[in-house]
Amino acid sequence: MAQDPPVSDMSEDQARSELQRLALALAQANRAYHHDDSPSIDDATFDRLKLRNAQIEQRFPHLKRKDSPSDQIGAKPKEGFCKIRHRQPMLSLSNAFEAKDVEDFVARLKKFLNLKPQSDMRMTAEPKIDGLSLAVRYEKGQLVHAATRGDGETGEDVTANALTIADIPKTLSGAPDILEVRGEVYMTHADFAALNVAQEQAGQKPFSNPRNAAAGSLRQLDAQVTKARPLLFFAYAWGDLSEPLAHSQSEAVARLQALGFSTNPLFITCDTSEELISHYRAVEMARADLGYDIDGMVYKVDDLALQARLGFRATTPRWAIAHKFPAELAWTELLGIDIQVGRTGALSPVARLNPVTVGGVVVSNATLHNEDYIAGRDSKGQSIRGGKDIRVGDWVQIYRAGDVIPKIADVDLARRPADSRAFDFAEKLKQEGIQGQRAPGDAIWRYSGAEPLADLAIESLKHFVSRQAFDIEGLGAKQIEQFYNRGWIRSFEDIFTLKARFGPGQLQQVSKLEGWGEKS
Ligand code: IVH
Repeated sequence: MAQDPPVSDMSEDQARSELQRLALALAQANRAYHHDDSPSIDDATFDRLKLRNAQIEQRFPHLKRKDSPSDQIGAKPKEGFCKIRHRQPMLSLSNAFEAKDVEDFVARLKKFLNLKPQSDMRMTAEPKIDGLSLAVRYEKGQLVHAATRGDGETGEDVTANALTIADIPKTLSGAPDILEVRGEVYMTHADFAALNVAQEQAGQKPFSNPRNAAAGSLRQLDAQVTKARPLLFFAYAWGDLSEPLAHSQSEAVARLQALGFSTNPLFITCDTSEELISHYRAVEMARADLGYDIDGMVYKVDDLALQARLGFRATTPRWAIAHKFPAELAWTELLGIDIQVGRTGALSPVARLNPVTVGGVVVSNATLHNEDYIAGRDSKGQSIRGGKDIRVGDWVQIYRAGDVIPKIADVDLARRPADSRAFDFAEKLKQEGIQGQRAPGDAIWRYSGAEPLADLAIESLKHFVSRQAFDIEGLGAKQIEQFYNRGWIRSFEDIFTLKARFGPGQLQQVSKLEGWGEKS
């Protein structure tokens, strides 16, 4: 667009006609892309047009059109999906939240089956994938159609979309003549993050989580869009069958794997509820590192003959249960933002929160990374959280997975106090009397004062535990100095992990310190 006049030089008349031209061009491009499967311009050109449109609108807000391309996200679906009626309904699972619920479930099964309470009962245990369920039907080894769960009775025909997912075989050999494979379509965290960057570059709304991204990607009327999305599929069940796959759930899943489907590597069999629960705990620990979202475990009776005897209730099988992980998200108020002085001189902002329980753990502080993160930009300058900045007084959503440091996932702009002000990093440093600098190209503010770093770090920790801030009883200025000098507490986080990090030996050392006893 080099030949186009710069926006800053435009007259009002020029701007009006340019906006009209851009609205037309972008609408045409959208139609070609979303409805006709044949993009008329490349993505970069599309982005440039969209940006130019936004710049003109910014300079001449009163000229913004009712049909402004800035307000459009993609294009409206051309038509709805065809419906597919499931021959076997796609059911949901009843839930267990605590170990006791799982024990009760296993006890109920044994009672129903007239088995002795102390007898072993083989069960399978596998992650509950947080995606969307899909049923894929094969006839004589050919994929014939694929349907979403819908209301469980009738789903949407997404055959063309499913055909674009590499994880879903298009042909099978050695399969029953009729085989309907069921499983979960999902997206990894890494692919989700990359997709959102691309969405924003294209001027489209980012997805709020990997599940929504997977659903939005699969349920595209244009299968070419689905094809460009990194969707994956885990097979874990089946529907219509011309002959049994196996005698047990575990053998059937192994058979699906042998046929070419991805099955979850954390699938195991267990003989007691204790084993189920210990696998649950192990997977819960590994959860943050899996790279995709799971929201619990699913336990199923392994023996398919027993499954048949147990049968179904209205919407759930009697032979399976979902054991959910505690929720990982919670909303709370941001009380303040403190600057933490790191050992290397990095000045890191930390969120001080009204304490809230997230996934069973009370969270009172969260990392804010750096100045840009607070402003709503990532390290590449792309907007994060939809560009929402974080302000003291905001209601913020805390995300915590496994033992990772809690993060702020979202900000509720509707609850933002009217008098709130954007966080000013430089101003805050001045208030705290911390000398810092941010070099061009560096995301981090760094300490640039003359005072020794340790003294400064101790002062910042003292402030953190003081009555004006966290008001931590029994941990005052004196203790901070003692603990800092011994290397036990060097950052705000260290305060909260102190107990977990201390073995009996160290506890003994503490009790020998001046002014400390067994109790403190
Ligand atoms: S078994 C008859 N196994 O959870 C029940 N479901 O709340 C068949 N899900 O609609 C489902 N991971 O979309 C099963 N490993 C897993 C699962 C799983 C995720 C979903 C599935 C189902 C929902 C039930």
